[in-house]
Amino acid sequence: MTTLRLTSSHDDLARAAEILCAGGLVAIPTETVYGLAVRADDADAVARLYVAKDRPADNPLIVHVADVDAVLSVAREVTPLARDLLARFAPGPLTLVLPARDDVPDAVTAGLDTVAVRIPDHPVALALLHLAGVPLAAPSANRSTRPSPTRVEHVLADLDGRIDAVVDGGPTRVGLESTVVDARGVVPIVLREGGVTHEMLGVTGVAEARTSAHRSPGTRHRHYAPALPVHLAEPGTGPGVAVALVAELGGPVGLIAVRASGALEPLTATDVTVLAVPRDAAELGAEMFTLLRAAESRGVAAVVVEAVAEEGIGRAVMDRLRRAADATAPTSAS
Ligand code: TXA
Ligand code: MG
Repeated sequence: MTTLRLTSSHDDLARAAEILCAGGLVAIPTETVYGLAVRADDADAVARLYVAKDRPADNPLIVHVADVDAVLSVAREVTPLARDLLARFAPGPLTLVLPARDDVPDAVTAGLDTVAVRIPDHPVALALLHLAGVPLAAPSANRSTRPSPTRVEHVLADLDGRIDAVVDGGPTRVGLESTVVDARGVVPIVLREGGVTHEMLGVTGVAEARTSAHRSPGTRHRHYAPALPVHLAEPGTGPGVAVALVAELGGPVGLIAVRASGALEPLTATDVTVLAVPRDAAELGAEMFTLLRAAESRGVAAVVVEAVAEEGIGRAVMDRLRRAADATAPTSAS
């Protein structure tokens, strides 16, 4: 299969919508990461999507819709909590888990009685939803286990020849996937950290404590792994950890340090390659997947990333970094 490269011109979007309507797989930009879209009402197309991504069958998909009314095309009920969250955060990087309608294919929900749904805040994604006129199921457009794609090159690196088309919308803004929230009850329960923070949701105390016990199915799987080990360093200790690792591995090591956490002192005359020095957690989050993929072609044996505080977007950043570190640890089962 040849993967068609499309721009976001009017004609190209019309072509992309046509391919989607015919049951094709099209990678599209969203404000979070690129998604691999397929019509959510076509079980065969959804099955092809799992194959293209090598995705475990027990990991359900997020359905993307154009507006609040269209949520009811896949959800049986929009709870008062969901209404409130949609009013505050849609369109945006928030996914709601709601009771699923019976006509949503099992392939989309992985057989659960709930469905995950979101309204993306990206002109290309919204235009395609309007043109296609159907809800689109779209997981991140990476091969399973790889870092999520934030640029069209990442999509092609993983999926060229396995999907029908990709629409280039430039680099994505948030750089981390949406926050997944169970919105069936009266308080939001965060199932996956993301672009909408706990602080924005007003999730504290008990609901927050419940977070780790109620993970999204997908958060069980090996994830976010570049082809080299990722080491987490305490804030401000990245240079020292990288220097020690150079000695241990006997080869060059990449470093992603966070400016807010201090000076890059002991780096003279070592084999440490500074890959980036993001200003803060938000900048690290936006660039993280790009940097992890870029590290693979920088000739380094490992990459050290400085931790950020677990507040605001820092929670989502640390969630992804920990899982990248776990997934690339020598003892990690793949
Ligand atoms: O930002 C995003 O969410 C991106 C863009 C493309 O929209 N999509 C994305 O999809 O990250 P994916 O497939 O990589 O992650 C979907 C997450 C998984 O952790 C999955 O388990 C969870 O959403 N999920 C899907 N349906 C669910 C459900 N019914 N209940 C609980 N979690 C669900
Ligand atoms: Mg994903």
